[in-house]
Amino acid sequence: PPLYAVFGNPIAHSRSPRIHALFAEQTGVALSYEARLAPVDGFEAALDAFYAEGGRGANITVPFKFDAWRLCVRRSPAAQLAQAVNTLGWDEGGLWGDNTDGIGLVRDLARVLAADTHRPLQGQRVLLLGAGGAASGVLGPLIAAGARAIALWNRSADKAQALAARHSALAAQHGADLQVVLEPPTHWADGVINATAASLDGRALDLPDGVLRPAQWAYDMMYGAHDTPFVAQAHAAGASAWDGLGMLVEQAAQSYTLWHGEAPATAPVLATLRAELA
Ligand code: ATR
Repeated sequence: PPLYAVFGNPIAHSRSPRIHALFAEQTGVALSYEARLAPVDGFEAALDAFYAEGGRGANITVPFKFDAWRLCVRRSPAAQLAQAVNTLGWDEGGLWGDNTDGIGLVRDLARVLAADTHRPLQGQRVLLLGAGGAASGVLGPLIAAGARAIALWNRSADKAQALAARHSALAAQHGADLQVVLEPPTHWADGVINATAASLDGRALDLPDGVLRPAQWAYDMMYGAHDTPFVAQAHAAGASAWDGLGMLVEQAAQSYTLWHGEAPATAPVLATLRAELA
């Protein structure tokens, strides 16, 4: 069967092989999808070897999304804005790259918002925490989805400034107010998205009181068997909060559609993954 893989470092705990196997089973497509560990300074060589073995497409995760972006000869508008690629393929033109993280976030967030709060994403005031690879992938799609205002906060403000500058034309085009903030604003956002890696060390972000509050929503791009520190923090403040497992499934579904030309149903796959995490 045609060969696909996800590249990262670390990669052992990736759920992507499982998700793509479930999509393949559901749609009756024969494929093989592996998790591949690449050395931190050896992504290009690992990708070349994969192609030589018959690799047709790959997902890319931390820390190789920027390397992947650099290596592509053609990039989608989403990949170009993000300067990060999570989906690769080869065709007559060579190596192409896309970024499906943003569409994945927007689809899952729109779903949980509608189901749990009966609100659309359109018109919301959003505080986006972080300015690394994860935040870069989702800012453009959030603007395009109609968020009315986005405040971008990052521990290192210069990275937030660069990310906002790259998106200023898109924000103007959609009439969205995009601003970099030096402190997370209190009593301002309708919803807060955590795109920082802070909880990787198991700790919550140190947010001022009033950033997270009741009647608000919160979304963590991280996920786990138990509430993430950010989800727990948001619940404690009285907000509705969800983790990023649904985003993971949705970004995978969009990659799958790009490769195989068929959109899999995500709800049953998300339910299976959630059950397997527990
Ligand atoms: P990713 O691709 O997961 O976004 P990254 O590019 O390394 O990974 O970015 C990690 C993000 O988490 C950055 O926004 C980082 O802030 P800096 O740009 O200041 O490094 C943020 N981050 C990581 N640990 C953090 C912590 N303990 N508190 C706040 N932000 C943190």
